[in-house]
Amino acid sequence: MFERLNPLSADPILGLMAAHRTDPNPRKIDLGVGVYKDEQGNTAVMRAVKAAEARLLQNQTTKTYVSPAGSAAFNERVADLVLGTTLRHTLGDRRTTFQTPGGCGGLRLAAEFIQKVKPGSKILVSDPTWANHIPLLGEAGLQIETYPYYDHNNHGIRFDAMMEQISTAGAGDLVLLHGCCHNPCGADLNQAQWQAVAELAQRKGFTPFIDLAYQGLGDGLADDSFGVRLLAETLPELIVVSSCSKNFGLYRERTGSLTVIADSSNAARAATSQISATARGIYSMPPDHGASVVAEILADTELNQDWELELTEVRERINNLRSALVVELNKQGLDRDFSFIEQEKGMFSFLGLSAGQVHTLINDYSIYLVDSSRINIAGINSSNIEYLAQSIAAVLKS
Ligand code: LMR
Repeated sequence: MFERLNPLSADPILGLMAAHRTDPNPRKIDLGVGVYKDEQGNTAVMRAVKAAEARLLQNQTTKTYVSPAGSAAFNERVADLVLGTTLRHTLGDRRTTFQTPGGCGGLRLAAEFIQKVKPGSKILVSDPTWANHIPLLGEAGLQIETYPYYDHNNHGIRFDAMMEQISTAGAGDLVLLHGCCHNPCGADLNQAQWQAVAELAQRKGFTPFIDLAYQGLGDGLADDSFGVRLLAETLPELIVVSSCSKNFGLYRERTGSLTVIADSSNAARAATSQISATARGIYSMPPDHGASVVAEILADTELNQDWELELTEVRERINNLRSALVVELNKQGLDRDFSFIEQEKGMFSFLGLSAGQVHTLINDYSIYLVDSSRINIAGINSSNIEYLAQSIAAVLKS
């Protein structure tokens, strides 16, 4: 049965993690996978997570099954986090939220659900988008098309071209948008642009599908969900997937959510039963631990405050690193303007290098980054920033 199988090459992002791990060079830098690292290069467990885990260990009395939708407490708290309490109440029964195995699980669950509702639906995704969007959505059967998004020359959003392309979508089509901290480019829609997208969706009838993987890592928890909240307030239908991997640092615990807003409570009730059956048919139920931790934190004033404080520290560190990298690159006497790195948001920006230059950085300098020259800003620290800037300059000058 397996004799004709060919091995596949490693995942472009996860493969870098493995290569970095085995590199003996003491100066090696990992700017590949989107994982937050502190000044010491560690991805520590957040304080509030540790405290919530201790409570769970003490208080949990059963490990019995929950349900395909996961924990109701988690789902309501996360809906508050994503939508805000007032909007959650306003939406009432038009909204349904599912706990999912990470953001990836949420994206796939949504795609499988859409595939049931309307097989082969068209979904427009930004060019570029996160590499794993394509298999997560496409392998469920959705038909993927792209819309122009990032201008590599001007380091800005190609907003007019984007709007022109997404205006070809109509009722029954979907448009995937990054809620904040665009992965891979870090360039986000501003409020006026979100407004224009909302008006276009209203006029054309397509359903926006928002991936909110980095809430809290851009401008703040509420600011980062501006687009989600605006679209949820104004449109009849919306799909939102959120992740707790980055903002709670729960990566391996696979904790995320899928929210569907329908135009009536009847439609939302039907969606709930369909999504439940879909989850049951794929993984039955999502893993519990991470969601219980998040529910515990969000329900407790003290833990919540400490979590928000630590998340603010994370966000500020990333933003400071962005400024510091620009300063360091400017010292190298290159004929290039890197100031866009400071304007962009979240963990990622493109350095603007060719794939060949990226390979030189990996092979000759042990600096690991994705072929597109996307870097994880959080992999930078005060001990490696100078070496990083000098290495980039050496590659650009050679
Ligand atoms: C990334 O883009 O690096 C992260 O979202 C991690 C992943 O799973 O690819």
